[in-house]
Amino acid sequence: MNHAPYFYLGLAISLMSSVLWYSWHLWSKVPFFSIANATPSINADVEWHPPNATGINNLTTAINGTDVYGFIFNSSMTPGDDYGVYNFCNMPHVRRKEYKRPDDGFELKYVEVDNTFPIEPYPWSCSDESLFYYGQPQNGNHSAHTYWRGYQSPSNPFQPSGFQNSSCQFPQITRDGLEDSWRHGRDLWEVYHDMLRFLPGVRQGVEVEVTYRVTGNVITSQVAGMVVSGMYGTEEDVPLLKQPSTVDSLEPTYSCPPASDLFNHIKSTSAWAQHLDLSQPLFNTLDSVSDVPSSSSSFHVSWDHYFDNLSARLCHQKPLPCKIGDPSRCVTQDNANAVFRLGEWEYSYIYRDAPESLSASAGSFGVWIAELTQNIRDMVDGKSRVLYRHNIAHDGSLARLLSILQVEVMVWPGMGSEVVFEVYSKKENGNWYIRVLWGGKVLRSSSPQLGVIDMVPLDQVLAYFDGLVGVRASRVVAFCTSS
Ligand SMILES: *[C@@H]1O[C@H](CO)[C@@H](O)[C@H](O)[C@H]1NC(C)=O
Ligand SMILES: *[C@@H]1O[C@H](CO)[C@@H](O)[C@H](O)[C@H]1NC(C)=O
Ligand SMILES: *[C@@H]1O[C@H](CO)[C@@H](O)[C@H](O)[C@H]1NC(C)=O
Ligand SMILES: *[C@@H]1O[C@H](CO)[C@@H](O)[C@H](O)[C@H]1NC(C)=O
Ligand SMILES: *[C@@H]1O[C@H](CO)[C@@H](O)[C@H](O)[C@H]1NC(C)=O
Ligand SMILES: *[C@@H]1O[C@H](CO)[C@@H](O)[C@H](O)[C@H]1NC(C)=O
Ligand SMILES: *[C@@H]1O[C@H](CO)[C@@H](O)[C@H](O)[C@H]1NC(C)=O
Repeated sequence: MNHAPYFYLGLAISLMSSVLWYSWHLWSKVPFFSIANATPSINADVEWHPPNATGINNLTTAINGTDVYGFIFNSSMTPGDDYGVYNFCNMPHVRRKEYKRPDDGFELKYVEVDNTFPIEPYPWSCSDESLFYYGQPQNGNHSAHTYWRGYQSPSNPFQPSGFQNSSCQFPQITRDGLEDSWRHGRDLWEVYHDMLRFLPGVRQGVEVEVTYRVTGNVITSQVAGMVVSGMYGTEEDVPLLKQPSTVDSLEPTYSCPPASDLFNHIKSTSAWAQHLDLSQPLFNTLDSVSDVPSSSSSFHVSWDHYFDNLSARLCHQKPLPCKIGDPSRCVTQDNANAVFRLGEWEYSYIYRDAPESLSASAGSFGVWIAELTQNIRDMVDGKSRVLYRHNIAHDGSLARLLSILQVEVMVWPGMGSEVVFEVYSKKENGNWYIRVLWGGKVLRSSSPQLGVIDMVPLDQVLAYFDGLVGVRASRVVAFCTSS
C-alpha cells in the first residue's frame, strides 16, 4: 500500500541522531530535548503521559496471542451491532445511528474533520473505475472529462515490479474505497445537516462555509470527490485546498530533522530490537512463502509492508498468498493475525508508548495543530465564516494527531479513520467548549490537560496546543530549526 511511504517520510533516514545513545532504561530519567523545551513553558501540562496498558501494547500478547482483539481485517462491512469496533478496512466514523447529540444547552459552532483515505488496490484490475485528470480555464471553453486508463504495453520490455499487466495506476484507490468514501460523506451529512441543521443545505455554501483539503497524493483527491458528492449530492466543480508539496502541514512534508531523529531513535531502542528478534520466526515463514529476500531491509525493519500486503488482500476478500509454483505453501490466517498484532504493537510503540513520541509528533505535525487552533480562534473571534473544514490525509497524519492528543489506546489508524473536532458555545453564558470524536466516539486522552474530551472548556484545550506547538507554530519552528 502506498500509505507506507508517507509513514516513512516522517522517519526520513538521518543517522546523525544525537539521542541514539539513550538506553531504554534511562528514558524516564534522562531529560531528552523535547519540543516543550524549545521555548519557555506556558501554564499547561504538555508532558507525555503513557497510554493504557492493554493487549495491543503488550509484547507478550503481540508475540504469543492468537486473535487480534476482535478487530476486523476482512471486510469493509462491520456487522450492525458491532459498529464502532476497529475495522481496518473501513474504520468507524460519525454517523446518525450512534451519534450522541449534546444537550440543548450547547450550540454547535464549528467542525473540523481529519480523516485518512480508504484502501488502495493490490495489483488487480482497476477497469471498474476511472480517475479523472484535466485542466480547464475558469472562464472559457470546457474540457472533456478525460481520465487515465492504465495499461501495460506488451512491446515494452520493462515491466514495473509487482504490477504485472495491471490496469491500476498506482497510487490509486479501489472501487470499494470510492464507495466507502461516498458513504462516509453521506454519514457525516446525515448528522451535521439532516440531524443538527448545522451545515448549509445548498451547494453555494460550499466554498464559503465548507472547505475540503487534500495532500499531494492523488488518492486524497479521489476520496474528496466522493465525499463531497456523498455530502452535497453534487457533480459540480468543487475546489480542494492544497498546500505546496514541500511544506504541506497535512501530509506532512515540511522539514523537521529533530522530529525525524526522534522517530529514528524510537526505532533504535532495545524494546524495538526485541520485538523484531522475537518475531524472527514469523519473518522467516513469510519470507519463504513470498520470496521476499531476507536481506530486504524495508521488509524487516518493521511489520509495515507485510501488514499492508496482507490486509489489502483480506479487505478485498482475496485469498492469502501462496508460494509461486507451490500452492500448498500459503500464508495462514494465524500468520496474518500475528502480523496484524505486531503492526498494532508498532503503531502503539512509535506514537504513544515511547516517551519521545509526543515531541516527534508535535514537531512533525504541529503546524497542522497550529492551523487548527487558528481556525478555531478565527471562528470564535468572528473573523472567519467557515463552519466546517474537512481534511483528507494519511495514516501517518492521523497517527501523529492521535499521538499529540495522547489517546489512551493507540492503534494503527485504518482506512477511513476519522477524528472530529466540534466546537460549541453554551447558550446560557456564551462560554466555549470542545468535543473530540475518534471513530465516532468521544476521544479519551491520557493527558490530564485534555482528559475525556467531551465539552472541555475550549481554553484548556487550546492552552495545551499552544504549549506544545506555540501560537502560529512558533515552538515547532524553534524545535525544527534547532540542532
Ligand atoms: C506488497 O509488497 C510489495 C513488495 O514486494 C510492495 O512493493 C507493495 O507495495 C505491497 N503491496 C501492497 C498492496 O501493500
Ligand atoms: C484507560 O485507563 C483508564 C484508567 O484506568 C480507564 O478509566 C479507561 O477506561 C481506560 N481506557 C480504555 C479505552 O480502556
Ligand atoms: C502482558 O500480558 C501478559 C499475558 O496476558 C500478562 O501476564 C502481563 O502482565 C501483561 N503485561 C503488562 C505490562 O500488562
Ligand atoms: C511466548 O510463550 C513462550 C512459551 O510459553 C514463552 O517462553 C515466551 O517467553 C513468550 N513470549 C513472550 C514475548 O512473552
Ligand atoms: C471475517 O473473519 C471473521 C472472523 O474470523 C469471520 O467470522 C467472518 O466470516 C469473515 N468475514 C468474511 C467476509 O470473510
Ligand atoms: C470556445 O470555442 C469556440 C469555438 O467553438 C471559439 O470560437 C471560442 O473563441 C472559444 N472560447 C474561448 C473563450 O476561448
Ligand atoms: C494482460 O491483460 C489483458 C487484459 O486483461 C489480457 O487480455 C492479456 O492476456 C494479459 N496479458 C498477459 C501477458 O497476461
